Amino acid sequence: MTLLKAKSILSKDFRIGRASDRLFGSFVEHMGSVVYNGIYEPDHETADEDGFRKDVLELVRELNLSVVRYPGGNFSSGYNWEDGVGPKDRRPVKLDLAWRQVEPNSFGLDEFMRWTGKVGADSIMTVNLGTRGIDEARNLLEYCNFPGGSQYSDLRRSHGVRDPYKIKTWCLGNELDGEWQIARKTAEEYGRLACETAKAMKWVDPDIELVAVGSSARHMPTFPEWDRTVLMHTYEHVEQLSLHHYIGKRENDTPTFLAMPLEMEQQIKDVIATCDYVQSVKRSSKRMKLSFDEWNVWREPDVPYTPWQTGCPYDWVKFHMEDALVFGSALMSILRHADRIDIACQSLLVNTIPMILTNKGGAAWRNPTFYPFLHASRYGRGEVLRLETESPKYDTKLYTDVAKVDSVAVWNEEKGELTVFAVNRSEESIAYELDIRDFGSVGFAEHLVMNHERLDAVNTADNQGEVKPRTGGATTLDGGRAESVLPPYSWNVVRFNVQSA
Ligand code: AHR
Repeated sequence: MTLLKAKSILSKDFRIGRASDRLFGSFVEHMGSVVYNGIYEPDHETADEDGFRKDVLELVRELNLSVVRYPGGNFSSGYNWEDGVGPKDRRPVKLDLAWRQVEPNSFGLDEFMRWTGKVGADSIMTVNLGTRGIDEARNLLEYCNFPGGSQYSDLRRSHGVRDPYKIKTWCLGNELDGEWQIARKTAEEYGRLACETAKAMKWVDPDIELVAVGSSARHMPTFPEWDRTVLMHTYEHVEQLSLHHYIGKRENDTPTFLAMPLEMEQQIKDVIATCDYVQSVKRSSKRMKLSFDEWNVWREPDVPYTPWQTGCPYDWVKFHMEDALVFGSALMSILRHADRIDIACQSLLVNTIPMILTNKGGAAWRNPTFYPFLHASRYGRGEVLRLETESPKYDTKLYTDVAKVDSVAVWNEEKGELTVFAVNRSEESIAYELDIRDFGSVGFAEHLVMNHERLDAVNTADNQGEVKPRTGGATTLDGGRAESVLPPYSWNVVRFNVQSA
Protein backbone atom coordinates (compact mmCIF):
# COMPACT_ATOMS: atom_id res chain seq x y z
CA MET A 1 0.00 0.00 0.00
CA THR A 2 1.39 3.43 -0.87
CA LEU A 3 1.46 5.91 1.95
CA LEU A 4 0.16 9.45 1.76
CA LYS A 5 3.09 11.83 1.38
CA ALA A 6 3.92 15.23 2.81
CA LYS A 7 7.10 17.26 2.61
CA SER A 8 8.71 20.25 4.36
CA ILE A 9 11.82 22.21 3.47
CA LEU A 10 13.72 23.56 6.45
CA SER A 11 16.23 26.36 6.14
CA LYS A 12 18.33 28.35 8.56
CA ASP A 13 17.25 31.43 6.61
CA PHE A 14 13.52 30.90 7.14
CA ARG A 15 13.37 32.23 10.68
CA ILE A 16 10.17 33.44 12.30
CA GLY A 17 11.78 34.48 15.56
CA ARG A 18 13.23 33.18 18.76
CA ALA A 19 10.71 31.44 20.98
CA SER A 20 10.66 33.37 24.23
CA ASP A 21 11.20 31.14 27.25
CA ARG A 22 7.96 32.61 28.54
CA LEU A 23 5.94 30.70 25.95
CA PHE A 24 6.22 27.72 28.27
CA GLY A 25 4.05 29.03 31.08
CA SER A 26 0.95 27.95 32.91
CA PHE A 27 -1.78 29.34 35.13
CA VAL A 28 -2.87 28.74 38.72
CA GLU A 29 -6.23 30.22 39.66
CA HIS A 30 -8.26 29.93 42.84
CA MET A 31 -10.78 27.80 41.03
CA GLY A 32 -12.19 24.40 41.91
CA SER A 33 -9.32 22.18 43.03
CA VAL A 34 -6.44 23.91 41.29
CA VAL A 35 -5.09 25.31 44.57
CA TYR A 36 -6.96 23.45 47.33
CA ASN A 37 -6.48 19.67 46.91
CA GLY A 38 -4.34 20.42 43.86
CA ILE A 39 -1.03 22.14 44.51
CA TYR A 40 -1.89 22.70 48.20
CA GLU A 41 -3.19 19.98 50.49
CA PRO A 42 -1.63 20.16 53.96
CA ASP A 43 -3.15 16.82 55.02
CA HIS A 44 -1.82 14.90 52.05
CA GLU A 45 0.81 12.27 52.80
CA THR A 46 3.29 13.99 50.46
CA ALA A 47 2.68 17.52 51.82
CA ASP A 48 5.83 19.47 52.65
CA GLU A 49 6.32 21.97 55.48
CA ASP A 50 4.29 24.57 53.50
CA GLY A 51 1.42 22.19 52.77
CA PHE A 52 2.41 21.83 49.11
CA ARG A 53 1.91 18.41 47.57
CA LYS A 54 5.37 17.08 46.70
CA ASP A 55 3.97 14.58 44.19
CA VAL A 56 2.40 17.49 42.28
CA LEU A 57 5.54 19.60 42.64
CA GLU A 58 7.60 16.84 41.05
CA LEU A 59 5.31 16.64 38.03
CA VAL A 60 5.22 20.42 37.69
CA ARG A 61 9.02 20.62 37.81
CA GLU A 62 9.21 18.12 34.97
CA LEU A 63 7.41 20.65 32.75
CA ASN A 64 10.13 23.25 33.35
CA LEU A 65 7.64 26.11 33.45
CA SER A 66 9.09 29.56 32.91
CA VAL A 67 6.14 31.55 34.26
CA VAL A 68 2.95 30.92 36.23
CA ARG A 69 0.06 33.40 36.24
CA TYR A 70 -1.92 33.95 39.47
CA PRO A 71 -4.49 34.34 41.19
CA GLY A 72 -7.00 34.48 38.27
CA GLY A 73 -8.76 34.53 35.93
CA ASN A 74 -12.25 35.53 36.80
CA PHE A 75 -11.38 35.02 40.47
CA SER A 76 -9.11 38.06 40.43
CA SER A 77 -11.99 40.42 39.57
CA GLY A 78 -13.50 40.00 43.05
CA TYR A 79 -10.41 39.18 45.09
CA ASN A 80 -8.92 41.18 47.96
CA TRP A 81 -5.27 40.18 48.10
CA GLU A 82 -4.95 41.44 51.68
CA ASP A 83 -7.24 38.56 52.79
CA GLY A 84 -4.57 36.06 51.77
CA VAL A 85 -1.51 37.43 53.61
CA GLY A 86 -0.40 37.40 57.23
CA PRO A 87 -1.13 34.91 60.01
CA LYS A 88 -3.40 32.18 58.68
CA ASP A 89 -5.64 32.07 61.74
CA ARG A 90 -6.60 35.69 61.13
CA ARG A 91 -7.45 35.35 57.47
CA PRO A 92 -11.15 35.73 56.62
CA VAL A 93 -13.26 33.10 54.91
CA LYS A 94 -14.92 34.74 51.91
CA LEU A 95 -17.44 33.91 49.21
CA ASP A 96 -15.88 33.92 45.77
CA LEU A 97 -18.55 34.97 43.29
CA ALA A 98 -16.58 34.06 40.17
CA TRP A 99 -16.81 30.31 40.81
CA ARG A 100 -19.30 30.39 43.71
CA GLN A 101 -16.90 28.74 46.10
CA VAL A 102 -15.89 29.26 49.70
CA GLU A 103 -12.43 30.81 49.79
CA PRO A 104 -10.63 30.06 53.08
CA ASN A 105 -7.64 32.23 52.13
CA SER A 106 -5.24 29.74 53.69
CA PHE A 107 -3.29 29.95 50.44
CA GLY A 108 -2.47 33.45 49.25
CA LEU A 109 0.21 35.59 47.67
CA ASP A 110 3.12 34.64 49.96
CA GLU A 111 2.30 30.94 49.69
CA PHE A 112 2.13 31.25 45.91
CA MET A 113 5.52 32.97 45.81
CA ARG A 114 7.03 30.21 47.95
CA TRP A 115 5.46 27.62 45.68
CA THR A 116 6.78 29.20 42.44
CA GLY A 117 10.18 29.43 44.16
CA LYS A 118 10.07 25.65 44.63
CA VAL A 119 8.89 25.18 41.04
CA GLY A 120 11.62 27.44 39.70
CA ALA A 121 9.25 29.66 37.68
CA ASP A 122 8.63 33.41 37.60
CA SER A 123 5.27 34.73 38.73
CA ILE A 124 2.81 36.79 36.72
CA MET A 125 0.36 38.65 38.94
CA THR A 126 -3.15 39.78 37.98
CA VAL A 127 -4.56 42.83 39.76
CA ASN A 128 -8.26 43.27 40.48
CA LEU A 129 -9.64 45.85 38.07
CA GLY A 130 -13.16 44.48 38.53
CA THR A 131 -14.41 45.39 42.00
CA ARG A 132 -11.26 47.35 42.83
CA GLY A 133 -8.86 49.65 41.01
CA ILE A 134 -5.82 51.88 41.08
CA ASP A 135 -5.37 51.96 44.84
CA GLU A 136 -5.44 48.20 45.25
CA ALA A 137 -3.07 47.73 42.34
CA ARG A 138 -0.46 50.18 43.61
CA ASN A 139 -0.68 48.80 47.17
CA LEU A 140 -0.26 45.24 46.00
CA LEU A 141 2.71 46.24 43.87
CA GLU A 142 4.21 48.10 46.83
CA TYR A 143 3.76 44.96 48.97
CA CYS A 144 5.49 42.83 46.37
CA ASN A 145 8.22 44.98 44.88
CA PHE A 146 9.09 47.90 47.16
CA PRO A 147 12.17 47.21 49.33
CA GLY A 148 10.84 48.60 52.65
CA GLY A 149 10.09 51.68 54.72
CA SER A 150 6.48 52.11 53.55
CA GLN A 151 3.15 50.73 54.79
CA TYR A 152 2.80 47.78 52.43
CA SER A 153 6.45 46.90 51.99
CA ASP A 154 6.78 46.83 55.78
CA LEU A 155 3.67 44.69 55.97
CA ARG A 156 5.41 42.18 53.73
CA ARG A 157 8.51 42.31 55.93
CA SER A 158 6.35 41.78 59.01
CA HIS A 159 5.19 38.55 57.32
CA GLY A 160 8.79 37.35 57.23
CA VAL A 161 9.60 38.29 53.63
CA ARG A 162 12.53 40.69 53.86
CA ASP A 163 13.47 41.04 50.21
CA PRO A 164 11.03 42.29 47.62
CA TYR A 165 9.67 39.71 45.21
CA LYS A 166 10.48 41.89 42.17
CA ILE A 167 7.59 40.51 40.15
CA LYS A 168 8.12 41.78 36.65
CA THR A 169 4.89 41.05 34.80
CA TRP A 170 1.47 42.32 35.86
CA CYS A 171 -1.89 41.78 34.17
CA LEU A 172 -4.22 44.77 34.37
CA GLY A 173 -7.30 42.70 35.21
CA ASN A 174 -8.90 39.79 33.42
CA GLU A 175 -11.56 39.34 30.70
CA LEU A 176 -13.35 42.56 31.61
CA ASP A 177 -15.24 42.46 28.30
CA GLY A 178 -17.20 39.39 29.45
CA GLU A 179 -20.75 39.32 30.80
CA TRP A 180 -19.60 36.64 33.29
CA GLN A 181 -16.96 38.90 34.77
CA ILE A 182 -17.51 40.51 38.17
CA ALA A 183 -17.72 44.25 37.36
CA ARG A 184 -17.59 43.97 33.59
CA LYS A 185 -16.73 47.21 31.81
CA THR A 186 -17.10 48.80 28.43
CA ALA A 187 -13.93 49.14 26.40
CA GLU A 188 -13.89 52.89 27.09
CA GLU A 189 -14.28 52.39 30.85
CA TYR A 190 -11.66 49.68 30.98
CA GLY A 191 -9.24 51.49 28.67
CA ARG A 192 -9.28 54.61 30.87
CA LEU A 193 -8.93 52.59 34.09
CA ALA A 194 -6.12 50.47 32.68
CA CYS A 195 -4.26 53.53 31.48
CA GLU A 196 -4.44 55.31 34.83
CA THR A 197 -3.60 52.14 36.76
CA ALA A 198 -0.61 51.57 34.53
CA LYS A 199 0.70 55.06 35.18
CA ALA A 200 0.38 54.68 38.96
CA MET A 201 1.96 51.24 38.96
CA LYS A 202 4.94 52.37 36.93
CA TRP A 203 5.44 55.29 39.31
CA VAL A 204 5.77 52.71 42.10
CA ASP A 205 8.08 50.47 40.05
CA PRO A 206 9.26 51.57 36.59
CA ASP A 207 10.84 48.16 35.92
CA ILE A 208 7.57 46.26 35.63
CA GLU A 209 5.85 45.32 32.40
CA LEU A 210 2.10 45.47 32.00
CA VAL A 211 -0.45 43.42 30.10
CA ALA A 212 -3.69 45.09 29.02
CA VAL A 213 -6.82 42.96 28.74
CA GLY A 214 -7.69 42.10 25.15
CA SER A 215 -10.87 40.34 24.06
CA SER A 216 -11.59 37.16 25.96
CA ALA A 217 -12.43 35.28 22.76
CA ARG A 218 -12.63 35.77 19.02
CA HIS A 219 -16.36 35.09 19.07
CA MET A 220 -17.07 38.02 21.40
CA PRO A 221 -19.36 40.51 19.62
CA THR A 222 -16.97 43.30 20.59
CA PHE A 223 -13.91 41.62 19.05
CA PRO A 224 -11.66 43.26 17.83
CA GLU A 225 -13.14 46.68 18.52
CA TRP A 226 -12.58 46.14 22.25
CA ASP A 227 -8.89 45.57 21.57
CA ARG A 228 -8.59 48.65 19.37
CA THR A 229 -10.29 50.90 21.93
CA VAL A 230 -8.28 49.53 24.84
CA LEU A 231 -5.04 50.01 22.93
CA MET A 232 -5.97 53.55 21.94
CA HIS A 233 -6.07 54.33 25.67
CA THR A 234 -3.12 52.27 26.83
CA TYR A 235 -0.67 51.88 23.94
CA GLU A 236 2.10 54.02 25.48
CA HIS A 237 1.70 52.49 28.94
CA VAL A 238 1.62 48.74 28.41
CA GLU A 239 3.97 46.20 26.87
CA GLN A 240 1.51 43.46 25.97
CA LEU A 241 -2.07 42.83 24.99
CA SER A 242 -3.69 39.62 26.24
CA LEU A 243 -5.65 37.04 24.32
CA HIS A 244 -7.43 33.89 25.48
CA HIS A 245 -8.61 30.85 23.54
CA TYR A 246 -10.21 27.54 24.54
CA ILE A 247 -10.87 24.88 21.90
CA GLY A 248 -13.88 22.65 22.57
CA LYS A 249 -15.13 19.79 20.44
CA ARG A 250 -18.44 20.59 18.76
CA GLU A 251 -20.60 17.60 17.84
CA ASN A 252 -18.93 14.26 17.35
CA ASP A 253 -16.69 15.38 14.53
CA THR A 254 -13.01 14.60 14.98
CA PRO A 255 -11.73 16.00 11.63
CA THR A 256 -13.32 19.36 12.45
CA PHE A 257 -12.05 19.28 16.03
CA LEU A 258 -8.49 18.63 14.85
CA ALA A 259 -8.72 21.63 12.52
CA MET A 260 -10.00 24.04 15.17
CA PRO A 261 -6.56 25.41 16.11
CA LEU A 262 -6.76 27.19 12.73
CA GLU A 263 -9.26 29.54 14.37
CA MET A 264 -6.84 30.16 17.18
CA GLU A 265 -4.19 31.03 14.63
CA GLN A 266 -6.61 33.40 12.89
CA GLN A 267 -7.28 35.08 16.24
CA ILE A 268 -3.56 35.65 16.69
CA LYS A 269 -3.35 37.23 13.22
CA ASP A 270 -6.41 39.43 13.91
CA VAL A 271 -4.97 40.65 17.19
CA ILE A 272 -1.60 41.40 15.58
CA ALA A 273 -3.39 43.36 12.83
CA THR A 274 -5.31 45.35 15.45
CA CYS A 275 -2.16 46.14 17.41
CA ASP A 276 -0.38 47.24 14.25
CA TYR A 277 -3.31 49.39 13.19
CA VAL A 278 -3.18 51.26 16.51
CA GLN A 279 0.59 51.55 16.17
CA SER A 280 0.04 53.30 12.82
CA VAL A 281 -2.66 55.59 14.17
CA LYS A 282 -0.39 56.55 17.03
CA ARG A 283 2.68 56.98 14.77
CA SER A 284 4.43 54.88 17.40
CA SER A 285 7.74 53.09 16.98
CA LYS A 286 6.68 50.54 19.59
CA ARG A 287 5.52 47.13 18.39
CA MET A 288 2.99 45.64 20.79
CA LYS A 289 3.70 42.12 22.00
CA LEU A 290 1.02 39.57 22.77
CA SER A 291 0.47 37.70 25.99
CA PHE A 292 -1.52 34.55 25.29
CA ASP A 293 -2.16 34.22 28.96
CA GLU A 294 -4.90 31.57 28.73
CA TRP A 295 -5.02 28.83 26.11
CA ASN A 296 -6.10 25.22 26.13
CA VAL A 297 -8.46 22.58 24.86
CA TRP A 298 -11.69 22.03 26.74
CA ARG A 299 -14.15 19.20 27.18
CA GLU A 300 -17.13 18.43 29.40
CA PRO A 301 -16.01 17.80 32.99
CA ASP A 302 -16.00 14.27 34.42
CA VAL A 303 -17.07 15.38 37.91
CA PRO A 304 -20.08 17.62 38.72
CA TYR A 305 -19.26 20.87 40.43
CA THR A 306 -21.01 21.68 43.71
CA PRO A 307 -21.09 25.36 44.58
CA TRP A 308 -20.06 26.83 47.91
CA GLN A 309 -17.36 24.24 48.60
CA THR A 310 -13.61 24.59 48.93
CA GLY A 311 -11.49 22.51 46.59
CA CYS A 312 -14.43 20.99 44.71
CA PRO A 313 -13.25 19.89 41.25
CA TYR A 314 -14.33 22.30 38.51
CA ASP A 315 -13.84 21.32 34.87
CA TRP A 316 -12.00 18.25 36.17
CA VAL A 317 -11.33 16.58 32.85
CA LYS A 318 -9.53 13.42 31.86
CA PHE A 319 -8.42 14.52 28.42
CA HIS A 320 -8.71 12.09 25.55
CA MET A 321 -5.95 11.14 23.14
CA GLU A 322 -7.54 13.37 20.48
CA ASP A 323 -7.50 16.37 22.85
CA ALA A 324 -3.73 16.00 23.08
CA LEU A 325 -3.51 16.29 19.28
CA VAL A 326 -5.52 19.50 19.27
CA PHE A 327 -3.46 20.75 22.20
CA GLY A 328 -0.26 20.01 20.25
CA SER A 329 -1.56 21.94 17.24
CA ALA A 330 -2.54 24.87 19.45
CA LEU A 331 0.96 24.90 20.90
CA MET A 332 2.41 24.93 17.40
CA SER A 333 0.17 27.89 16.47
CA ILE A 334 1.74 29.81 19.32
CA LEU A 335 5.27 28.84 18.28
CA ARG A 336 4.56 29.94 14.69
CA HIS A 337 3.98 33.45 16.03
CA ALA A 338 7.03 33.56 18.24
CA ASP A 339 7.94 36.91 16.72
CA ARG A 340 4.92 38.54 18.42
CA ILE A 341 3.81 36.30 21.28
CA ASP A 342 6.05 36.87 24.23
CA ILE A 343 4.10 35.07 26.97
CA ALA A 344 1.82 32.04 26.79
CA CYS A 345 0.14 30.33 29.72
CA GLN A 346 -1.54 26.97 29.34
CA SER A 347 -4.71 27.20 31.43
CA LEU A 348 -4.93 25.62 34.00
CA LEU A 349 -2.10 23.59 35.45
CA VAL A 350 -3.87 21.23 37.87
CA ASN A 351 -7.39 19.78 38.03
CA THR A 352 -9.29 22.28 35.88
CA ILE A 353 -8.86 21.29 32.19
CA PRO A 354 -5.40 20.44 33.50
CA MET A 355 -2.09 18.92 32.51
CA ILE A 356 -1.93 17.30 35.96
CA LEU A 357 -4.78 15.55 37.74
CA THR A 358 -5.01 14.80 41.43
CA ASN A 359 -7.31 12.87 43.71
CA LYS A 360 -7.87 14.40 47.12
CA GLY A 361 -5.78 12.34 49.51
CA GLY A 362 -4.66 10.17 46.60
CA ALA A 363 -2.58 10.06 43.44
CA ALA A 364 -1.31 12.74 41.07
CA TRP A 365 -0.87 11.83 37.41
CA ARG A 366 -0.35 13.21 33.92
CA ASN A 367 -3.20 14.02 31.56
CA PRO A 368 -2.29 13.26 27.91
CA THR A 369 -1.87 17.01 27.20
CA PHE A 370 1.06 16.96 29.62
CA TYR A 371 3.27 15.39 26.97
CA PRO A 372 3.07 17.80 24.01
CA PHE A 373 3.71 20.60 26.50
CA LEU A 374 6.66 18.74 28.01
CA HIS A 375 8.16 18.14 24.57
CA ALA A 376 7.72 21.74 23.47
CA SER A 377 9.17 22.98 26.75
CA ARG A 378 12.21 20.69 26.33
CA TYR A 379 12.84 21.02 22.62
CA GLY A 380 10.90 24.10 21.50
CA ARG A 381 13.28 26.74 22.86
CA GLY A 382 15.23 28.27 19.99
CA GLU A 383 14.65 29.83 16.58
CA VAL A 384 11.26 28.90 15.20
CA LEU A 385 11.53 28.16 11.48
CA ARG A 386 8.94 28.89 8.82
CA LEU A 387 8.42 25.63 7.00
CA GLU A 388 7.74 25.34 3.30
CA THR A 389 5.27 22.45 3.47
CA GLU A 390 3.30 20.44 0.97
CA SER A 391 0.67 18.29 2.64
CA PRO A 392 -2.43 16.42 1.54
CA LYS A 393 -5.51 18.33 2.62
CA TYR A 394 -9.09 17.67 3.71
CA ASP A 395 -12.38 19.53 4.06
CA THR A 396 -14.87 19.44 6.93
CA LYS A 397 -18.25 21.02 7.54
CA LEU A 398 -16.52 24.10 8.91
CA TYR A 399 -13.09 24.23 7.28
CA THR A 400 -11.62 23.71 3.84
CA ASP A 401 -8.08 22.86 2.76
CA VAL A 402 -6.93 21.66 6.17
CA ALA A 403 -3.38 20.31 6.00
CA LYS A 404 -3.26 16.71 7.18
CA VAL A 405 0.22 17.32 8.52
CA ASP A 406 0.46 20.24 10.94
CA SER A 407 4.07 20.96 11.85
CA VAL A 408 6.62 23.45 13.08
CA ALA A 409 10.42 23.29 13.50
CA VAL A 410 12.71 24.80 16.09
CA TRP A 411 16.47 25.16 15.71
CA ASN A 412 18.56 25.57 18.82
CA GLU A 413 21.95 26.55 17.47
CA GLU A 414 23.68 26.69 20.86
CA LYS A 415 22.64 23.16 21.74
CA GLY A 416 23.04 21.89 18.18
CA GLU A 417 19.45 20.60 18.06
CA LEU A 418 16.87 20.70 15.32
CA THR A 419 13.37 19.52 16.25
CA VAL A 420 10.27 19.03 14.14
CA PHE A 421 6.92 18.79 15.90
CA ALA A 422 4.15 17.28 13.80
CA VAL A 423 0.52 16.22 14.20
CA ASN A 424 -0.93 13.77 11.72
CA ARG A 425 -4.58 14.84 11.54
CA SER A 426 -5.62 11.94 9.31
CA GLU A 427 -6.70 8.36 9.84
CA GLU A 428 -3.91 7.12 7.56
CA SER A 429 -0.16 6.96 8.08
CA ILE A 430 1.74 9.68 6.25
CA ALA A 431 5.32 9.53 4.99
CA TYR A 432 6.69 12.94 5.91
CA GLU A 433 9.85 14.01 4.10
CA LEU A 434 12.05 16.60 5.76
CA ASP A 435 14.58 18.34 3.57
CA ILE A 436 17.25 19.46 6.04
CA ARG A 437 20.20 19.74 3.66
CA ASP A 438 20.67 23.37 4.66
CA PHE A 439 21.82 22.24 8.11
CA GLY A 440 24.90 20.42 6.79
CA SER A 441 26.09 17.55 8.88
CA VAL A 442 23.07 16.27 10.73
CA GLY A 443 22.49 13.13 12.80
CA PHE A 444 19.19 11.54 13.72
CA ALA A 445 18.57 11.68 17.47
CA GLU A 446 15.07 10.41 18.21
CA HIS A 447 11.49 10.16 16.96
CA LEU A 448 8.93 10.33 19.78
CA VAL A 449 5.40 9.31 18.96
CA MET A 450 2.19 9.52 20.92
CA ASN A 451 -0.92 7.85 19.50
CA HIS A 452 -3.49 5.30 20.58
CA GLU A 453 -5.84 2.96 18.77
CA ARG A 454 -8.71 4.68 20.59
CA LEU A 455 -9.00 8.45 20.22
CA ASP A 456 -10.98 8.52 23.47
CA ALA A 457 -8.24 6.79 25.50
CA VAL A 458 -7.49 8.50 28.83
CA ASN A 459 -5.10 8.23 31.77
CA THR A 460 -6.62 7.37 35.13
CA ALA A 461 -5.27 7.13 38.67
CA ASP A 462 -5.15 3.35 38.26
CA ASN A 463 -3.85 3.36 34.72
CA GLN A 464 -1.62 6.40 34.51
CA GLY A 465 0.31 5.34 31.43
CA GLU A 466 -2.48 4.47 28.98
CA VAL A 467 -1.66 7.49 26.81
CA LYS A 468 2.01 8.35 26.76
CA PRO A 469 4.75 8.91 24.21
CA ARG A 470 7.24 6.27 23.15
CA THR A 471 10.55 6.48 21.39
CA GLY A 472 11.25 4.44 18.29
CA GLY A 473 9.12 6.24 15.69
CA ALA A 474 10.09 5.30 12.13
CA THR A 475 12.51 7.88 10.77
CA THR A 476 15.29 7.32 8.24
CA LEU A 477 17.93 9.84 7.30
CA ASP A 478 19.80 9.83 4.03
CA GLY A 479 21.99 12.65 2.73
CA GLY A 480 20.15 15.57 4.33
CA ARG A 481 16.72 14.15 3.64
CA ALA A 482 14.79 12.43 6.41
CA GLU A 483 11.59 10.52 6.13
CA SER A 484 9.36 10.03 9.15
CA VAL A 485 6.30 7.85 9.09
CA LEU A 486 3.61 9.64 11.08
CA PRO A 487 1.08 7.09 12.34
CA PRO A 488 -2.65 7.87 12.05
CA TYR A 489 -3.83 10.54 14.49
CA SER A 490 -0.45 10.99 16.13
CA TRP A 491 1.72 13.56 17.87
CA ASN A 492 5.36 13.35 16.73
CA VAL A 493 8.64 14.90 17.80
CA VAL A 494 11.51 14.24 15.38
CA ARG A 495 14.89 15.35 16.70
CA PHE A 496 18.21 15.81 14.96
CA ASN A 497 21.69 16.74 16.14
CA VAL A 498 23.24 19.52 14.10
CA GLN A 499 27.01 19.90 14.06
CA SER A 500 28.08 23.54 13.96
CA ALA A 501 29.92 24.49 10.77
O1 AHR B 1 -11.06 28.36 32.99
C1 AHR B 1 -10.39 29.49 33.48
C2 AHR B 1 -11.24 30.73 33.27
O2 AHR B 1 -11.51 30.91 31.90
C3 AHR B 1 -10.59 32.00 33.72
O3 AHR B 1 -10.88 32.32 35.02
C4 AHR B 1 -11.16 33.04 32.81
O4 AHR B 1 -10.26 34.08 32.59
C5 AHR B 1 -11.54 32.28 31.56
O5 AHR B 1 -12.83 32.62 31.15
